Amino acid sequence: MTQRKNWLQRLSGWFLRPSGQQAPQKAAAGARRHKAVDGASPPSPPKSGKLKAVASEDGLLGQTRMRQRVSRAFGASQPVQERQGLCGRDRKLSELLDGVRFRHNHAVICGPRGSGKTSLARVFGDYADEDGAVVLYMAGSDDASFDELLRPYLKQIPEACCSPGVKQEIMVALEREKLTASSVVDLLTAIRYSQVIFIFDEFDRITSPEAKAELTTLMKLTSDACLKVNYVVVGIAENLHELITAHASLRRHLTIVSVEPLADEAIGRILSDCFEKSGLQCDDKAAAMLTAAACGSPYHARLFGMHAALQAISERERLVQRRHVRDGLRGAFNEWRAGNPEDAAIFEQIASTGAEERSQIVRLASHAAYRHAGSPPSGAIPREEPIDPPPALRPSLETAESFPIFRDSLAPQFLLIAMEMGGVAPPDHRMEAVE
Ligand SMILES: Nc1ncnc2c1ncn2[C@@H]1O[C@H](COP(=O)(O)OP(=O)(O)OP(=O)(O)O)[C@@H](O)[C@H]1O
Ligand SMILES: [Mg+2]
Repeated sequence: MTQRKNWLQRLSGWFLRPSGQQAPQKAAAGARRHKAVDGASPPSPPKSGKLKAVASEDGLLGQTRMRQRVSRAFGASQPVQERQGLCGRDRKLSELLDGVRFRHNHAVICGPRGSGKTSLARVFGDYADEDGAVVLYMAGSDDASFDELLRPYLKQIPEACCSPGVKQEIMVALEREKLTASSVVDLLTAIRYSQVIFIFDEFDRITSPEAKAELTTLMKLTSDACLKVNYVVVGIAENLHELITAHASLRRHLTIVSVEPLADEAIGRILSDCFEKSGLQCDDKAAAMLTAAACGSPYHARLFGMHAALQAISERERLVQRRHVRDGLRGAFNEWRAGNPEDAAIFEQIASTGAEERSQIVRLASHAAYRHAGSPPSGAIPREEPIDPPPALRPSLETAESFPIFRDSLAPQFLLIAMEMGGVAPPDHRMEAVE
């Protein structure tokens, strides 16, 4: 809640201020607060305001290489690959390790799109693996049956986990039978020598109700049989709610980890790490602006940061400044529009007509951005006074209730951009040389 208020204070008016203009007191104070309150250390600006382009980056090829380097460094579509790259999730990692490794619970990792569920699951897997567990990772697919989901996991169980010769029996059984929860439990009794952790990512993509129900039964039967097997199910909150409520008694075998928005400090670290990898720098105000626009989402932070960086290199600058962020946010909006033209059109229309409900819409969008998509099972997010969605926005929402959910859970940050920009003009790709 406090974060959301800060967002509004920090962001308000920044996008529209022409570059070079003196920042008003509020914005400067916002940037200082970012550092003091959150302990953030946003990237420091270089001593000289404008850095010269180096000779090797001149020309079309040089620009292309720089753009590639930037997009690799920000990697908005790639989950975090290494534990060092995972910012602000230490507490979540220890909850998972305690729950799964030491209490032998199953775990549920839930959160909105792009919040870092897969990244957390992978890094957890890395730690569990180092600690002696066997971790098998798979992602769900749309119309997969229970059998299709489980078969690849069972094939991957290492022989060393089982009594001698038993892996061979599993393979033979897999040839013969169609898998059900109880037949899988029978096969898993063969696992004796180390804990095996199955990570099911993208649980929300599984559409078959039978597959979901069978998976829940499998979790329950596995716990009841005290097997050395645990499951980590990953997905957006709403869908996992189904899983948890299907078997009331499963609840006590579960560690539920909801992936909440990251603190500004962690977002600041992600950005400074990405800028460093890109070979660029970002001044404090630009970094604070990106942090505010991301609303705690690592995906949005990387996407917005990347677009700001691309704007800077299109001007042959190595210092990312507020004007690059402004243009970059427009660029990010346009990229998002390509995947979701309906909502983009609604947002632009709402923003450009200067709707009377402006503050209402901003409040609603920032509430949605900081809140989980769907109700987190833990009910961790505090409720506040209801917000009535304006009729023009309703087609973009899944429910028209007091705490609406956007049908595209990545959307609220883009609505805020549209509101702040008063509509989104195409970004200015200044590809020509700047003297
Ligand atoms: N804690 C973190 N520190 C740094 N970067 C992160 C962190 N969490 C996520 N990211 C980055 O944010 C982006 C989204 O992360 P990830 O794919 O893990 O999210 P997700 O919740 O699994 O998304 P989806 O719902 O689409 O499956 C990726 O670029 C990833 O590298
Ligand atoms: Mg994911």
